[in-house]
Amino acid sequence: MNERPLIEALNAHRSGLRQQWHTPGHGEHPPFVDDWLRWGADLTEIGNLAPRNDRDDPIHRSEQRMAESFGVTQSWYSVQGASLPVMAGILAATTAIGKNRIVLERTSHRSVLAAMVIGGLDPIWVYPRQQYRGAIANDVVRAIHSSPEVGAVVLTRPTYEGIAEDIAPVISAAHHRHIPVVVDEAHGTHWYGRAGYPTSAIALGADLIAHGTHKTEPTLTQTGLLHLHSDLIPAAAVDVWWRLLGTSSPSYLLLASLDAYQALRHDSLWMTRWRELGEAVQVLWQEFSYLNLLQPHLRGAAGVEVDPAKLTVVGQAQDLVPKILSWGWPEKVDPDGVTLILSPERPLAMVKSMLSTLPVKDLALWQGHPLPRSVQRLSPRAAILRSAERVSMREAEGRIAREPLVPYPPGIPVVQPGEVMSRDVLEWLAVWQDINPGSVEGIYPDPDGQGGSIWVVT
Ligand SMILES: Cc1ncc(COP(=O)(O)O)c(C=O)c1O
Repeated sequence: MNERPLIEALNAHRSGLRQQWHTPGHGEHPPFVDDWLRWGADLTEIGNLAPRNDRDDPIHRSEQRMAESFGVTQSWYSVQGASLPVMAGILAATTAIGKNRIVLERTSHRSVLAAMVIGGLDPIWVYPRQQYRGAIANDVVRAIHSSPEVGAVVLTRPTYEGIAEDIAPVISAAHHRHIPVVVDEAHGTHWYGRAGYPTSAIALGADLIAHGTHKTEPTLTQTGLLHLHSDLIPAAAVDVWWRLLGTSSPSYLLLASLDAYQALRHDSLWMTRWRELGEAVQVLWQEFSYLNLLQPHLRGAAGVEVDPAKLTVVGQAQDLVPKILSWGWPEKVDPDGVTLILSPERPLAMVKSMLSTLPVKDLALWQGHPLPRSVQRLSPRAAILRSAERVSMREAEGRIAREPLVPYPPGIPVVQPGEVMSRDVLEWLAVWQDINPGSVEGIYPDPDGQGGSIWVVT
């Protein structure tokens, strides 16, 4: 019999009847009539479907309607998730300005690293001061002033847990020096113009904003958006990178789901459903105030907005995971907590039933496992181009990494190419691997079976 390992795994996964507290945002129940979701729509740029230079074609017309719904000048449809928008946005900004240093948070997604490697960009890292939070504005502003060669500021907002720092002072400081601001708002597509959610970077005046629509909104997996709203960057600077990095055969199934989504955005009912979710979550926060929930805990902290569509239970993963997994699949498990994605398509009643089974712990002395600080010895691009050897993790301390080491999710490199492997990093990775064995990209099975090995520069 012909084996179909992936199809069999998919069928087994779906037969479990568990709740889906993870991407995609449609949760198998898209709120639109799915008359386009069929084999016959699996096409690419053919005949009248192809984009035209004069922009008089269905894709450009749909993108224009999307742009209007977000109040931006132009939007691009991605069939490569938020990764393509992040990469194209950073490369467009730095090439338009003609400088190759970028100020960015050390907790950026690996698509940011890809842009740095492709563009030969040098990072000025800013570390968040607190686990699960972004870098605070003062620290980013200081970094902007630290070099005359800054070609872009790249912010990740919100964090994977939906925590959004106040970036208005950063945008103002950057624009004062004519530096564009690119915001990776992959987890915040559902915010713009919606009461009860954090203010979108679009409304705050960022120049380029990347959205991962499929994460929280009802589009097909692998869809995304890039929005331009800037006096500093021309659309042509984006177009060139979009074409270089994007596939030449975009799936019209994915594009059609973005078209259905833009239509939904013009429908006030959809806005209402998100508002109702936000209100219902506020009630849930009160009901479960005895649990250690991150979002209500940080709500009201100075300079922070929180997204009610993310729910993080803080605590030892070993205690939480078996209980949560018996109800549904969470989006992310890390050593210090479990994060769920909520959306209008998912019943909150099941979330509440699950929460009521969780152990209550006093976490007053909780230390957590924040990302350890590393020393950057080579630029990411220089490190990736260097010759390398594979060494066991036991012998890696003090060596310079050639590849990023990336726990997934969240897809944030714990080690960037060119960084020195410290004892702190190795200990952090050991704790992570205990919780999520085999989930760190860049760690290979050791030939002696004694643990992992990694590539380091020689
Ligand atoms: C903050 C952030 N940016 C970008 C991405 C890339 O998104 P995608 O997987 O849709 O390409 C992710 C994915 O997890 C992310 O968390």
